[in-house]
Amino acid sequence: MFCMLSTLLFACLAIFALAVPPSQERLSASVVRDPTRLSQSGTVSSVEVQYSTDWAGAILHSQTDTIREITGRLVIPTPRIPIRNDGKDAHYARIWVGVDGDVCESASIRVGCDLVVDSAGNITVNAFYHAFPGPIQHLNSSLSAPGASMTFAIALTSNTTGTVYVTEHTLDETVAQPFKTGAPLCQQDAEWVVENIVIDDKLLAMADFGTVTFTNASAVVEEKQVASRVGTDGARVINIWQDRLLTDVALGASSVAITYLS
Ligand SMILES: *[C@@H]1O[C@H](CO)[C@@H](O)[C@H](O)[C@H]1NC(C)=O
Ligand SMILES: *[C@@H]1O[C@H](CO)[C@@H](O)[C@H](O)[C@H]1NC(C)=O
Ligand SMILES: *[C@@H]1O[C@H](CO)[C@@H](O)[C@H](O)[C@H]1NC(C)=O
Ligand SMILES: *[C@@H]1O[C@H](CO)[C@@H](O)[C@H](O)[C@H]1NC(C)=O
Repeated sequence: MFCMLSTLLFACLAIFALAVPPSQERLSASVVRDPTRLSQSGTVSSVEVQYSTDWAGAILHSQTDTIREITGRLVIPTPRIPIRNDGKDAHYARIWVGVDGDVCESASIRVGCDLVVDSAGNITVNAFYHAFPGPIQHLNSSLSAPGASMTFAIALTSNTTGTVYVTEHTLDETVAQPFKTGAPLCQQDAEWVVENIVIDDKLLAMADFGTVTFTNASAVVEEKQVASRVGTDGARVINIWQDRLLTDVALGASSVAITYLS
């Protein structure tokens, strides 16, 4: 489903909410390095904070190690139309864990879910994975709904292959999906993110996602053939800044809580 004219874009998305043309999506955070009011972020003072127009969360950067796995558990939030309603029909939030796509832009792998709330308040949740280069793919979404306790995980078997996992804990059901990226991953960045979807360089209207808390957040890194599991300590915090600060991120030793500032 292609929607070339920007005037048609929102109408198209309202109907084909998740048929996003992947080639036109922005795949890396567009970092805003100098927002005017850094002190208002209210985040943990000892961590480095960056600002982006579309990513909020934490990025664990590995200089010498190779990232092998990433995992994060969360309760799917209920997306709401923001109080400061902008008159848009549908509001979106994309939640995922991933490897690369920040410093390394040539390839990335993500698994997570897209949340949509339409003007009638109807909510859609769809699990997806995205092995880039390559199209975004939807996973069997009957596993995910607001309130569901989920784990998203990625295990890499090479710099182009691996498996994404989506687990629903109440039903104890896991979907495992092998993937192949169209170019080698750098295996440098592990990411826990809530994203404001960007299409054709335009931000889709962001849903108020309340708070998304990734718990049991960890990555497996390998250095000189020795693998170890690490938490989110030392990760970089990234907040969404558009015309104002839109998120607040609280980083724990193995948790990342991302709150929408209404
Ligand atoms: C919202 O959901 C209700 C109940 O399922 C349905 O009747 C209605 O058509 C939906 N509205 C939209 C805009 O999809
Ligand atoms: C989706 O998940 C449901 C529930 O586990 C299952 O019954 C169904 O067969 C799955 N569909 C596909 C296409 O995998
Ligand atoms: C990816 O892995 C292959 C095989 O091990 C290796 O030859 C290649 O250099 C790697 N590419 C990158 C970008 O790390
Ligand atoms: C936490 O993550 C580890 C590693 O993926 C996993 O073995 C364990 O079951 C997880 N614990 C919970 C409570 O999800």
